[in-house]
Formats: sequence, structure tokens, C-alpha cells
Amino acid sequence: MCGIVGFNGNQQAAPVLLEGLSKLEYRGYDSAGIAVFNQNEVEIVKAKGRLKSLMEKTNDGQSVNGTCGIGHTRWATHGEPSEDNAHPHISFHEKIVTVHNGIIENYQELKDRLLKEGYIFYSQTDTEVATNLIEFYYLKNKEPLKAISEAMMRIRGSYALAVMMKDYPDQIFVARKDSPMILGVSNQESYIASDVPAILKYTRNVYYIGNLEMACLKKGSISFYNLDGEEIEKECQEIKWDAQAAEKGGYEHFMMKEIHEQPKAVEDTLNSIIKDNQIVLDLEGLDISNLSQIHFVACGSAWHVSMACQYIFEDLTHIPVRVELASEFRYRNPLLSKKDLVIVISQSGETADSLAALRLAKEKGIPTLAIVNVLGSSIAREADYVLYTLAGPEISVATTKAYSAQLVLGYVLAIYFGKEKGLLEEEKVRYYLSELNTLPKKIERVLEDKERLQWFASKYSNAKDVFFIGRGIDYAISLEGSLKLKEISYIHSEAYAAGELKHGAISLIEDGTLLIGVCTQSQLYEKTISNMVECKSRGAYLMAVAPYGYYQIEDTANFTTYIPRIDEHFIGSLAVIPLQLLAYYLSVSKGLDVDKPRNLAKSVTVE
Ligand code: F6R
Repeated sequence: MCGIVGFNGNQQAAPVLLEGLSKLEYRGYDSAGIAVFNQNEVEIVKAKGRLKSLMEKTNDGQSVNGTCGIGHTRWATHGEPSEDNAHPHISFHEKIVTVHNGIIENYQELKDRLLKEGYIFYSQTDTEVATNLIEFYYLKNKEPLKAISEAMMRIRGSYALAVMMKDYPDQIFVARKDSPMILGVSNQESYIASDVPAILKYTRNVYYIGNLEMACLKKGSISFYNLDGEEIEKECQEIKWDAQAAEKGGYEHFMMKEIHEQPKAVEDTLNSIIKDNQIVLDLEGLDISNLSQIHFVACGSAWHVSMACQYIFEDLTHIPVRVELASEFRYRNPLLSKKDLVIVISQSGETADSLAALRLAKEKGIPTLAIVNVLGSSIAREADYVLYTLAGPEISVATTKAYSAQLVLGYVLAIYFGKEKGLLEEEKVRYYLSELNTLPKKIERVLEDKERLQWFASKYSNAKDVFFIGRGIDYAISLEGSLKLKEISYIHSEAYAAGELKHGAISLIEDGTLLIGVCTQSQLYEKTISNMVECKSRGAYLMAVAPYGYYQIEDTANFTTYIPRIDEHFIGSLAVIPLQLLAYYLSVSKGLDVDKPRNLAKSVTVE
């Protein structure tokens, strides 16, 4: 969702801003723009569509002079994608220029008030309202921070705002509530970005601006303030991500690169919490033995991870588990007891619904644990306990390596809880950990078989509907396979618990419908095969995902992809790989934008 960059330094700002925006393209956008101050004049250039158009308009930024500026990629919320609606926005009296990520919920009410004050609006955006509101207060009190904080007090909703003022052309002000934003410094330069990759080339020293805080960026220095305008201290943190990790590294798409980074993401995550064959987690104060229920709360693929975790947790810990969509959880007044634990899973750590769910649990005094990939993100900072996945930066909108890292973290947590509750003996724990250690190599082995899936995908690029079925953990994996397919190949697809198909959806099966059965659980294998046979006799073409050795499946399935064996609790981590590859190859064979699928944003910071 919208990307923000800002630069205040000694070199020409526009090329830095454009390069930063290009690193945020993955977030999803439909227009882009920059504003640069040169002496007391501001130059604003905007373009609808891809960043390329903005680069062409500005000769890669060369034609825009000045060393202090802000930039934005917009993912339309209020008003269609157009140049007028694109950011940066300039205020009615041309004193203030802003870019914004988030949603201002009471924008209509604020706009009506400003209209009464004589303000005229050129766009349909909530951001122009915020821009004018800041100007309105600035013209009254002439104090930049006071004007911004007065506006912040009146705005309801979420925002990361970067604000430039005509009267202060060598400073950038920022304000934040519930939308991601980081600030970076190097010797004589300061940076703003919605996400780390945008500034990684220039600096690894970053500050995380908190909720309802403001900052002022001068060349090479940043000061932070609370809503009362009092200066506050912040600690500078070092980003450890490798800059190359955010490049394609020879792959045609980030998604393929990230699919191939899964062995490493899994290995790094395991190594961060397993030392000398012992699980090392900092969960001090959490009363694991007396937990009455665990609520996993997440969105999208992270919700699918939670679904898989449900089976594993209940099996290894005997603690009842509920799996909740964050967008539902936050509004349904969930029944929570003080002995419950809420686990929020999020790659970005900024997903608006997941963050709201976390806050709700905290308000009710329930312990919260976050599984997050992005260091210092809002969810990571606000949860009582945080465990990091070590997937590195994930650029492709469709998650792969972060999903895999979340899964293994979930496995280890379940083993740890089982052990702490006295349900798993040392020997059993050692067995599970040694099985988990085989995962990276086994994922590599599945990846080696990718050409077969490429061939299979080339035959199915015209598919209209695809069904994924499975039982237990296989159902959770089917959900993820189906989401991957629809989000990047735009092929309609459904995931069903295999036994549920005949309660309605089987009526959609017709000649040639592709049905993919995930069959990794020995207890459930025959049941799923029977459901596949039922579909085959109604015309379905069957693909199966099964462990090596289950060769009798070929009597039923038309095409089978095999995965290595491993303890069945963890086999989902292998079964998902062919499904990711299939979605990828189908998207490529249809000539689609794999890394930036239409209508989607990487980090969903609005509800
Ligand atoms: C799908 C995908 C999304 C995310 C979801 C949650 O490939 O990436 O479904 O899983 O938007 O995002 P995070 O994990 O950042 O909270």
C-alpha cells in the first residue's frame, strides 16, 4: 500500500526519491509523484500509472533541482487513480506539501469545515484534506510542529505523513499513527521511507517513529517530538538485512528468487531459536502450563499458517486453539480469558487488522505474542512477546519465504509449549528438532523438480477454475495453494476440506476441471483419495501432491508431484512448495506481473 520516501541532504533529491520509490513498487500503487524544494520554490511532478512514466517525465529525476524532497506511490483509496489524486498534495494557499499513507476516516467532516473557511479542493483525496488542515493551523500559529500536532489531534484514522513547508524549505516534518514509517540517517543526509529496502543503499541506521509522534529532518540529523511538541529521545537501530537481499539476483522475478530462498529462510529461523539442540525462546513470565486457550489471529497467508498451526498445537500441547481472521476478531467482541494467549502472525508487522486485533487483546489484558518478519514494526513493538522470522526482505507481493519461516516458527513454538507442559519427553523433542533440521535440504529437493511443474503449468494456463482439497494440515496447505494461484494467476480457485466438497461445491466440477489433492497425512490419505475419485468420475483432471513412496496414487491421479518424507506434522512445509511453483509458472505463462499482481498491496495498512 502507498509508499513514502523523503530525502534531505547534499545531493540532488529527485533521483534518490525515484530510486527509493522503485524499491517500494512491490507495495502496490497506481500513480506516483515527487515534490522537491529548490530555494523557496517547490516543484511537484506526478504521473498516473507506473513509476516509469514519472521517470520519463523528469529524465530520471535529473530535470528536478533541489536537495530536499518527498515522494510517493499511491494505492487509490479515496478517488480514482489520476494525476490530480496522486501525491504529493499542495495546500490551498500553497504553504504546505504532503505525502500520506493511510486513511483519514473523518475526512468528510474535516473537509466540510475547511470548505466553510473558504478552502477549495482540486482532488478527491483524504490527503488533500489533511494538507489543508495543517495549513489552516499553520496560518493561525505559524509554528510547524504545533500546526501538525493540532491536525493530528483532529484526524481520526491512520497516517504516515511527510510534510514540507514553504517557509521551511530545508526541513521535512513527519507524523505517524498506525502506518509504517522509518527514518534513516547517514553522515550529512536524512531519509524517510515506508520500508527498509527504499533506503538500504544509503544507510543502515534507522529510527522507528512511534504512534502519535512527530519528527523533523534536517540534513543528517533528526529530532523527535511528542504531541505536546516536547522533544523525545530515540535510539538509532542498525538494520542487518543485506542490501542484495532486496535485489532480484539473476532471477526473472522476486517471487522465484524468494521461493528459492526458502531453505535459507527456514534454516536461519530455526537457527535463531534452536541452540545446541535446545529451544531458546524469550517468553519469560508467560505461564504456558496454565494456558486455557490459544487464539491465532492473522490475515491472508499468515492466517493459513495459523490454520496449519492449529492442528500441530492441539496435537503437541493439548491446548485448545482458535484461528481467527483479524478483520473479524477485532469487531466481534471476542470472549477472551486472562489465561488465554493471543498469537498474532504477520510478515510486515503493519497489517492494520492484525495490529487492531493485537491492541484489542492487550486492552483486555490478554498476553500477546507476535510472530513477525520486519524488525521494529508496529506489531513487533506492541506485542508482549515477539519472535522474529528470519526470512529477510520479501518484495514479491505474494508471500512465500515469509510464509515458510512463519510455519517453522509455529512448529518450534508448539514443541516448546508441549515440552513446557510436560507432554513431550526430551527424546521426543530431540526427534522433532532433528526432523526439522532436515527441512532446508528437503525443500531444496522439491525445488529441483520444478521443471515438471513448469511443463504442467504450460498445459493449464487456460484453466478457469481450480479446486484444492485436503484434510487436516493438508487442508491448511490447500488454502495457501489456492490463494497463491488466484492472487498471481487470476485463475479462480477454491480450497475445500476434502470431506466438505460433496456438501455443495462438487456441483461445480465438470469435464476438465483441475482438482489438486494434497495427500500427505497417512491417516487421512485414503479418505482424500476417495474424494478425488468422486471428482474424477465427474470429469475432473486430478493432480496430487504426495510423499515419495505413495506411488499407488498414480492409479487415481493424472499427474503427481512427490515430496520427501518427514514427520507428518511438518510436511506441509514441503507440500506447499509445488503449489507455489505451480502458481508462479501459471502466472508467467499468462504473461502477468508476477511480483505486483493487480489490485494487491504488499503491506495492507488500511482495514
Ligand atoms: C498473500 C499475502 C497476504 C498476506 C496478508 C497478511 O500472498 O501475502 O495474504 O499474508 O496480507 O500480511 P502480513 O503477513 O504482512 O500481516
